[in-house]
Amino acid sequence: MPKLVNRQWLLAARPRGMVKPSDFSLRELPVTPPGDGEILVRNLYLAFEPAMRGWMEDRAGYIPPVPLGDVMRGMSVGQVVESNHPEYKAGDFVSGMLGWQEYATAGRGAMVSHLPAGATLTQPLSVLGITGITAYFGLLDLGKPQPGETVVVSGAAGATGSVAGQIAKLKGCRVVGIAGGAQKCRWLVEQAHFDAAIDYRNEDVGKRLRTLCPDGVDVFFDNVGGPTLDAVLEQIRLRARIVLCGAISGYNAEQRPPGPRNYVNLVPQRGRMEGFIVIDYLPRAAEAIKDLAAWVREGRIAYQEDIQQGFENAPRTFLRLFQSENVGKQLLKLADPPIGSAR
Ligand SMILES: NC(=O)c1ccc[n+]([C@@H]2O[C@H](COP(=O)([O-])OP(=O)(O)OC[C@H]3O[C@@H](n4cnc5c(N)ncnc54)[C@H](OP(=O)(O)O)[C@@H]3O)[C@@H](O)[C@H]2O)c1
Repeated sequence: MPKLVNRQWLLAARPRGMVKPSDFSLRELPVTPPGDGEILVRNLYLAFEPAMRGWMEDRAGYIPPVPLGDVMRGMSVGQVVESNHPEYKAGDFVSGMLGWQEYATAGRGAMVSHLPAGATLTQPLSVLGITGITAYFGLLDLGKPQPGETVVVSGAAGATGSVAGQIAKLKGCRVVGIAGGAQKCRWLVEQAHFDAAIDYRNEDVGKRLRTLCPDGVDVFFDNVGGPTLDAVLEQIRLRARIVLCGAISGYNAEQRPPGPRNYVNLVPQRGRMEGFIVIDYLPRAAEAIKDLAAWVREGRIAYQEDIQQGFENAPRTFLRLFQSENVGKQLLKLADPPIGSAR
């Protein structure tokens, strides 16, 4: 193996308030050959999730915090450079939790897998990855949308929200999205075929919901929390289901924001508000990927990927999620696969 250098982004500091580039530091070290039962992977694309902000904190969650000084945790797609593992050979494309680094070594039992058949290099990080699986099970298992019902989605133009809303449309629901800015709202109606979109930056969400959902909201798929959650809680219908997928509006707050005032509306409406973590559904991921791949192939689900360039830009690319700069799934391209590769 030629002498290769690995660049890694490490977690340098626990963030206070809005995450900053200086919360990460760059390190270079030589690449070492894989050991027995291991593979060496060259990362080609990194994926960024808002939840990573929580992994940076020293707080117990659904997965342990990233230790200070460790490579920042994250999903990627890469290509096997060298393999001492019977199930992988050099040249194979894989995805897994390989971290913010150019080369990663994965051992037996590591969370690495081959890409789904027919997938592009980036789809396993977007619509056919954690994002799509979250939208699929969050909406269908917790939201339980029925034909004719009204479904509202926040963070609707984002990677997860846009897929959740389109699945609700496929199930025969009326779907209203809430997103920031006219351009994202236009995309929701024109390309993702939502029935309507509310621009939370420039419109009164409560007022628009009263107009667009005069009979109330049956299912709310919430990615945002805060005042948006409150506005929807005010409009819920009898036996409404609120899927708590995320609450990005508070992820960078120094103190946890106050709870929603209108939660009390769950009582007369016999509503249900339930948290969701995709990890619980990974054993059933194949079910979601099969349906999502078919819907994408048939042109029934539109999705967007926002691909930034260059490993050195990883921290800045991550920040785009919290500045509403990303248009679709936030990815970072590190390298092209070698010429002659299968994809
Ligand atoms: N529970 C789970 O297992 C699970 C798994 C995956 C993702 N999630 C959650 O799903 C949500 C979306 O994640 P994603 O990866 O699909 O990201 P995304 O929606 O593609 O990107 C994040 C978007 O959030 C919006 N946003 C940022 N700051 C905001 C604020 N202060 N108030 C309101 N909106 C804000 C921005 O859209 P606008 O331009 O519309 O503001 C931004 O583009 C997140 O809450 C994430 O934690 C949960």
